[in-house]
Amino acid sequence: MQPADLFRATTFRLALSYLAIFMVSAIALLGLVSWSTSVFIQWQVQETVEAEAGGLSEKYRERGIEGLTELIAQRAREDSERRSVYLLLSPDGMRLAGNLYGWPAREGDTEGWIRFSIEKVGDDQFVTEVLARTYVLPQGYHLLVGRSLFDTRRVKLAINRALGLGLAITIILGVVGGYVTSRHMVQRVDAMSRTARRIVGGDMNQRMRLSGGNDEFDQLAHSFNEMMDEIQRLVESLSTVTDNIAHDLRTPLNRMRSRIDLVLMHSPDVEAFRRTLEETLAEADNLLATFNALLTISHAESGTRMHNLPPLDPALLAADAAELYEPLAEEKGVTLSAQAESGLSVAGDRHLLFQALANLIDNAVKYTPAGGCVSIRVAAVDEGVEVAVADSGPGIPEESRGRVLDRFVRLDATRSTPGNGLGLSLVKAVARLHCAQLILEDNSPGLIVRMVFPGQRPS
Ligand SMILES: Nc1ncnc2c1ncn2[C@@H]1O[C@H](COP(=O)(O)OP(=O)(O)OP(=O)(O)O)[C@@H](O)[C@H]1O
Ligand SMILES: [Mg+2]
Repeated sequence: MQPADLFRATTFRLALSYLAIFMVSAIALLGLVSWSTSVFIQWQVQETVEAEAGGLSEKYRERGIEGLTELIAQRAREDSERRSVYLLLSPDGMRLAGNLYGWPAREGDTEGWIRFSIEKVGDDQFVTEVLARTYVLPQGYHLLVGRSLFDTRRVKLAINRALGLGLAITIILGVVGGYVTSRHMVQRVDAMSRTARRIVGGDMNQRMRLSGGNDEFDQLAHSFNEMMDEIQRLVESLSTVTDNIAHDLRTPLNRMRSRIDLVLMHSPDVEAFRRTLEETLAEADNLLATFNALLTISHAESGTRMHNLPPLDPALLAADAAELYEPLAEEKGVTLSAQAESGLSVAGDRHLLFQALANLIDNAVKYTPAGGCVSIRVAAVDEGVEVAVADSGPGIPEESRGRVLDRFVRLDATRSTPGNGLGLSLVKAVARLHCAQLILEDNSPGLIVRMVFPGQRPS
């Protein structure tokens, strides 16, 4: 994966956008913290200055200007760290006491607060900013009391430095985190699109790998794999069907062709022509029946599973199908019976369901020897509504019950009877279309085929 790909990745861009939003809010928050700290510090300095000025004016009240001058001189002397600033001027502007040599040139605000820089406090060279308050004492004396902002500057600087460092760490973690998560996402999407490209390239066996974490990617990969399984199944069944059709239709067509060829070459009499034409007609009818069955199966298979279908009465369906096969069963010496619970309903396509049921009865009658019996049963079961056809014939061995549902599959034991091997394929397609279960079981003796349709129990 190229770095350029990463920068184009949606996740990375998303991570960067979130980082930008986060940074703006973090900067706003840090700015607020820094501003409120400086307001708090300034408030503290002002408190200190006012407390000190309070003490001095107390002294002035008690001991007059001498006492005040003495106290200021003493405080200026004792303030070895030179954090406090004092200046006392006489009404005519003479400096009486303090560690400041001149009155600041700046004007104070309405409350007398003033901010200025000094170069010298006491005898040492010292540059600092000072926040001071000026007072005019009774009798016109001017007093200035202030605090150097040197310490508060240091605190503010330390706070700002810590906030800046925090911000830098946040940005670094955000960028690295965004990079790592996007790389992970991009790699998984890359792997998926590589698999998809291989499938497009013709390798239908490729499947997406699952990480095992059952996250959204795994779910997507799982659905994709299921989709591919279904596509592969359809493609394979399509190619098997094509092969089967080519094979199964070639035989009767060849037969027709050689029969016509033979009669044209060797039989001049009209009767032989008539016979051949009749045989050819029967063969063509059979071919058409096969085509129709194939078309119905592919129509049923290609349809999406049916849901909102009108309800129909399965008992009526069974009665109609039994009536249709009654003469055939009688002719074969097979007893055909039907027991149907009334009041049940199945949502379905009547034509397809009738054809499926007819195919089951056709098989049962066809493969059951004379003297046997075939029964049709419609009943409510736990899972829904069951339509079953049972016979007393040879049955289907367990290992062949899956494969007889495929197109053109006929078991060796029954090859002598006419048929194309399409009847049960249609039953399977119709069952799938109606979301019904199709179960082939041993009827001891014989076979029982059960179709269980979901829902609709009698009310
Ligand atoms: N009731 C049954 N008893 C015994 N074997 C059966 C029964 N039903 C189906 N089979 C076996 O399953 C095979 C497939 O049945 P299917 O109905 O698909 O085809 P068919 O009956 O041979 O031909 P078609 O239905 O197309 O005329 C049959 O050839 C037969 O071997
Ligand atoms: Mg059949």
